[in-house]
Amino acid sequence: MLRFLTAGESHGQALVTILDGLPAGLRIDAEVIATQLARRQRGYGRGRRMAIEADRAEIIGGVRAGETIGGPVALIIRNRDWENWQRTMAITPEVPEGATGANRAPVTRPRPGHADLAGAIKYDRSDIRDVLERASARETAARVAAGAIAAELLRAVGIEITSHVVAIGGVAISAAHTVSFERAAALADDSLVRCVDRGVEQQMIAEINAAREAGDTVGGAFEVIARGVPPGLGSYTHWDRKLDGRLAQALMSIHAIKAVGIGLGSEGASLPGSRMHDEILPDGGADGWSWNRPTNNAGGLEGGVTNGEEVRLTAFMKPISTLMKPLRSIDLTTMQEAPATIERSDVCAVPAAAVVGEAMTALVLADAFLESFAGDAMSDVFAAYAAWRERRQARF
Ligand SMILES: Cc1cc2nc3c(=O)[nH]c(=O)nc-3n(C[C@H](O)[C@H](O)[C@H](O)COP(=O)(O)O)c2cc1C
Repeated sequence: MLRFLTAGESHGQALVTILDGLPAGLRIDAEVIATQLARRQRGYGRGRRMAIEADRAEIIGGVRAGETIGGPVALIIRNRDWENWQRTMAITPEVPEGATGANRAPVTRPRPGHADLAGAIKYDRSDIRDVLERASARETAARVAAGAIAAELLRAVGIEITSHVVAIGGVAISAAHTVSFERAAALADDSLVRCVDRGVEQQMIAEINAAREAGDTVGGAFEVIARGVPPGLGSYTHWDRKLDGRLAQALMSIHAIKAVGIGLGSEGASLPGSRMHDEILPDGGADGWSWNRPTNNAGGLEGGVTNGEEVRLTAFMKPISTLMKPLRSIDLTTMQEAPATIERSDVCAVPAAAVVGEAMTALVLADAFLESFAGDAMSDVFAAYAAWRERRQARF
């Protein structure tokens, strides 16, 4: 239903996104996209690059007079630092006349943890820059722009998404799964590390400072919460239609995410069934439904289908792999031991990854929503959703 592709390199001229499958008549506000791009750029522990670029997505297709018109939406995010990279990233074999910026030496010492070694072997590249430029998480800016549009579609049908950082390095908030949507939405954006607990926030900042001073890096974890999600999105009928699997894949596809939990996630493995599963009680349900669930350990998904509770997903991020005190590696030109390459880099990017997590969640939920309530125009989508609610709520 909804699909997107991105193209472009970290230090190339621009990133490009094509988002296909949006119904016509969805209002698109460029400021909303800009706000999401700015949120991705924030966060304590980011590198110098975040200070130079103020990302802006130009809409170059699929939108007219502020609304989608049915065709694919095309977006371009220009590299604000392009003047410093024109020589290094020249597309032609000869550097064009008038190109600016340094002519950087080839990168030959792969960073453990990054795509450098595997990518150089896979694509038979002698300059690892050919690998790192596309493997870099700069690409997530394009995802956030696409996700901002998906989130607008969801907002139009009453679904909202937020996130908060649960852990940085060894510092974690307690009972992360009980942080309410309202608290995360109200507090996380005001925190330097997207943490809702001000005491823990300071410890997280200290953790990042300590890593920076040691020439090291830290990872962590964040939770994405979606509310207003109707029951019945996704399906248990085939492995590739299960929404838990689709959401996990989308989050795992974010750079450096190494595990995803749904609801209690891995914590549930050590609980007895009697304490894990969310009982189903009559009356008092949210949003007009006539049942309620006193707990939400399942994170809003049972059988790969949304169950009407908040969708709660936790993603775990490994530490950044570019270290200012580099690990041992080899030089691919000599195959002799050499310290890994140092590139301009973040010390911690967990708060930014949380914003990317929101975007990926929005893209998957919007896709699943359109599967259930397809329409060529938003008016059809609204009508399908309203009719479905009326029929289902008459019975449940
Ligand atoms: C928002 C964000 C920013 C990142 N910034 C950096 C960075 O500055 N330096 C770095 O080495 N890795 C950074 N990473 C992680 C790498 O992109 C990632 O480790 C690499 O692409 C290899 O992929 P993998 O870790 O998923 O195996 C970042 C990840 C995210 C999500």
